[in-house]
Amino acid sequence: MHLPETGHKKEEIFGKLDEYTSKDVDGSSGRIFGYVFDPGSDILEFAKQVYARFLSANALDFTVYPSVLKFENDLVAIMRSHLGGDDEVVGNFTSGGTESILLAVKAARDYYRQQRPDIERPEMILPSSAHAAFHKAAHYFGIHTVTVPVLPNFKADVEKTRRSITENTIIMAGSAPSYTQGVIDPIAELSELAGAHDIWFHTDACMGGFLLPYFKRLGRPVADFDFSLRNVRSLSVDLHKYAYTPKGASMVLYRNAGLRRHQMFAFTRWLGYTMINPTIQSTKSLGPLAAAWAVLHYAGDATYLDFARKKLQAVQEIKAGIEQIPELYLLAEPEMTLLSFSSKTVNIFHIIDEMNQKGWYIQPSFSFQGVPANIHLSINLSNVGKTGLFLSDLKQCVEKAKALPSGELLRVVSKMIEKEGAEILNQAGSLMAIAGMQKGGVPERMAPINEVLDALPPEWREKILLEVTNSFFQP
Ligand SMILES: Cc1ncc(COP(=O)(O)O)c(C=O)c1O
Repeated sequence: MHLPETGHKKEEIFGKLDEYTSKDVDGSSGRIFGYVFDPGSDILEFAKQVYARFLSANALDFTVYPSVLKFENDLVAIMRSHLGGDDEVVGNFTSGGTESILLAVKAARDYYRQQRPDIERPEMILPSSAHAAFHKAAHYFGIHTVTVPVLPNFKADVEKTRRSITENTIIMAGSAPSYTQGVIDPIAELSELAGAHDIWFHTDACMGGFLLPYFKRLGRPVADFDFSLRNVRSLSVDLHKYAYTPKGASMVLYRNAGLRRHQMFAFTRWLGYTMINPTIQSTKSLGPLAAAWAVLHYAGDATYLDFARKKLQAVQEIKAGIEQIPELYLLAEPEMTLLSFSSKTVNIFHIIDEMNQKGWYIQPSFSFQGVPANIHLSINLSNVGKTGLFLSDLKQCVEKAKALPSGELLRVVSKMIEKEGAEILNQAGSLMAIAGMQKGGVPERMAPINEVLDALPPEWREKILLEVTNSFFQP
């Protein structure tokens, strides 16, 4: 493919956009339990207007765009008061939860580089439910991770965490709530433990930081997780999730500016402009920041409380419905809007495929550390009003899944490994061929592939996924 010699007509391009996105999920359909946070057309259209207005402004330089400081500091002020912080709490706007977590981990690393230069091999202790972004941070910033299995209720195990602390531990984290099972870790105990050992504690409230205070106001039991706990040093909270601002919007907050300083980067030893980056990105659109500021002000507290009430109702309906399907069981009691369920008798990967055929998106999680493969749901505003249909389809899909064969591809792959050795799994081409995948396209039924991945050790899953992805992203 080459750049067209002369430009195409707009209609032609719009036609192509329609064609290329025809298989993408429809975020406003109410059938998607993840990825999309749709506030409804009124807020969405308003957000688009603001986003478009600031699309090409560059939030890189607040001396050229002083509005960056205004929008960003306003958002920090709003979020710190939402999250039990005092006037000392500072923070920044980032592109997403992952960037917020990367920055907090980097700040902790650099803080201890200064405070404890004797630590040569810094360690981070994480519950097994902690988001993958922490492991990405460890991978990027050269930190060793210690993963502590969660308790049977899927919350972080404080005692095992205590026993995992070493002279090298610099940071610990917990989630409010965890993405996986939607439960809130015992942040009060974990952060006290961290404080007692002068270890940095980060609360990952990417999912819950905005919504949990509303759930509390609705009378739900919400354990403390925010800056009201004296040993929480940093916290991540995403706005592009339950605050419904356009994607590319999260905040990383710190107890004080002294801690936050370690997140930043400034450089003047080159021939170009003075580079001062509070966050990871440099040149970036002002669109997400301005739109986040605008959406929060447009929606207002009462709207978010109303949204929270509706979501809570939907969670209760879905939870009760799943409990009534005898083949299914919930892994944990959901404390917000995220839950996971599994089956001891039916292949859950078939259930997912069957639901997919009916236009629903529900997400698989592979088995890990004794936790069986399961189905995750992030319940959202757009799912409200669709719960009855969802549950009746789910019931039907469980029945259909029962009749489908399992383990065929897994048997083929096991034989291959027996014959050729596990190295065969490094060959993306051969794997994709057996799985019936073509470059740039995933098969409609993923169950056989998911069964194989689920049966393999996590290191092998990762190798395969990297190989396959490496081959997918090629023209
Ligand atoms: C608890 C938690 N932390 C971090 C993240 C990462 O956020 P993002 O996908 O915006 O990078 C997520 C995403 O779902 C999450 O649920």
